Amino acid sequence: MSKLSRRDCLALGTAAALMPLPAWAAAPDSLDALAKAKGFTGFGSCIGGSGTRPESSLNDPGVQRVMIRECGIVVPENELKWVALRPDAATFDFAKADRVFAFAEANGMAIRGHTLLWHHVRWMPDWLKAYDFGSAAAAEKMLRDHITAVCTRYGTRIVSYDVVNETLDDATGEMRDTPFTRYLGDKVIDIAFDAAHQAAPHAQLVYNDYMSWGAKPARHRAGVLRLLERLKENSVPVAALGVQAHISPDVSAPVSLGAADEAEWRRFLDAVTALDLDLLITEFDVGDQDLPADIAVRDAAAAELTRRYLDVMFSYKRLRTVMAWGMVDKWSWLRRLKPRTDGLPKRPSLYDDSYAPKPMREAFAAAFRAAPMRA
Ligand code: XIL
Repeated sequence: MSKLSRRDCLALGTAAALMPLPAWAAAPDSLDALAKAKGFTGFGSCIGGSGTRPESSLNDPGVQRVMIRECGIVVPENELKWVALRPDAATFDFAKADRVFAFAEANGMAIRGHTLLWHHVRWMPDWLKAYDFGSAAAAEKMLRDHITAVCTRYGTRIVSYDVVNETLDDATGEMRDTPFTRYLGDKVIDIAFDAAHQAAPHAQLVYNDYMSWGAKPARHRAGVLRLLERLKENSVPVAALGVQAHISPDVSAPVSLGAADEAEWRRFLDAVTALDLDLLITEFDVGDQDLPADIAVRDAAAAELTRRYLDVMFSYKRLRTVMAWGMVDKWSWLRRLKPRTDGLPKRPSLYDDSYAPKPMREAFAAAFRAAPMRA
């Protein structure tokens, strides 16, 4: 890429200020700037998706421009997962992740690491899905070696890790069974955090999951609380809960995230922060499969829910990092997941297919402007 990075522009100082701003420069009213003005670490998004294949959002200059304009933090969408890094039990392949890092660093963006252990068999590489370690020692070694290798390779370039992702069954709130739990039981989580803490003592270590408000995920929320309480009791170095925030309107209720839901959701967040844990929004998007077809109506409803949700979340001053799971509708993983019955393309993100900001983007800006200052 033969363009000035944001860092280059900053380094040029006043000289740069006299030159016309290149189209890709981070705007002074970017979401990242609005976030930072309120004491957040910043605003960002995932990019990538398919690694080196042409269909990766990383290869879309339109997505790059939106990211550079709005984001101060990047998280690789898939490239740091075992499925991308580990072709087999013995090998690492960092090439795809390195490309995301190059993009982030050329543009002065911080990087989150997702994820050292997606503890959900469905999303493991095929070779690992039914892997028999043979012994607890071998299972622990594989896990520690993996985490140590990733943390050592990227060092302080990664400021925050989703150490463990989705280890709880959403229906029961209990630990999922995996090739690791077969030998290590619940201890697999403690080991993962310990390995990350040893190899990346500088980094914020996060437990990440998709528990949400409402009656249906009650067991999921309770399970997350139980897990976090146990980790704290055992002095496991977990610093924060990552709230994925794949939200969607509750079409059966007059108001999504109404007063009762909000009170219950706050009880959960209060209990988490009472454990001396920080909060992050790690993967925001809106599932609009049940909203009306009309685009103006649909976008307005998604933006309204976004604002309502962010206002609740931003009232917690321990929440300082806000990540979207993709900035541009056409690259959203939700396009394929739970499709609309009318066959229309879903619109889960802040920017539309022609890279124009949607009302959802305005909802973010307004929520940041209204947010109480973080310490
Ligand atoms: C998703 C990616 O967006 C997809 O490209 C991939 O096929 C599956 O994973 N929760 C998470 C993310 O923690 O890693 C998931 O990302 C979305 C749900």
